[in-house]
Amino acid sequence: MKFFIDTANLEQIKDAQDMGILDGVTTNPSLMAKEGITGTDNIMKHYVAICNIVEGDVSAEVISTDFEGMVREGEALAELHEQIVIKLPMVKDGIKACKYFSDRGIRTNVTLVFSPGQALLAAKAGATYVSPFIGRLDDISTDGLNLIAEIRHIYDNYAFDTQILAASVRHTMHVIDCAKLGADVMTGPLSSITGLLRHPLTDSGLEKFLADYNKGN
Ligand code: G3P
Repeated sequence: MKFFIDTANLEQIKDAQDMGILDGVTTNPSLMAKEGITGTDNIMKHYVAICNIVEGDVSAEVISTDFEGMVREGEALAELHEQIVIKLPMVKDGIKACKYFSDRGIRTNVTLVFSPGQALLAAKAGATYVSPFIGRLDDISTDGLNLIAEIRHIYDNYAFDTQILAASVRHTMHVIDCAKLGADVMTGPLSSITGLLRHPLTDSGLEKFLADYNKGN
């Protein structure tokens, strides 16, 4: 399972990268704005800064909603760095742009996916990644994890190569449940990754080992 971090915060990206377990980064316009990164030039520079920290794929989202605009933006983003993956919204022109990029060997991530049918279309268009938003489904009393299970089932039926990138992950149990269900990738905040470290028996066990060692010193 690949671990992506869902942030545009360079310190948090460095922190996860330093642990040696980071496989990539996902961003979106809201995450950029949260870090105060605005304006096309600054956003483009920020993508390069992220690519220079992490070794894996970095999703960069287009803001156009029409095919021509998505192609123009996506081509400019792909030029920025070889690690860039073009993130496209799950709309008709987004699917068309996904097919355009996949035909040209440019990697894509189809985002804002909330149903198995949408995920099926993304795979048919040759998406590298599909991003079902599990947290946002949970927010409206719909089982986000069930969507991961349904997409896994459909993709396995036809051996689609598209990787299931569980997005809108909010906490450690989402990560663990996505791993059980066979999501290829998860993307979440740093806390959803570092939270996996914690267990009270680890803390008390380590405390005891150190105390016993110190008895003889
Ligand atoms: O990767 C998608 C993500 O950015 C959305 O997360 O927490 O805003 O639903 P959230």
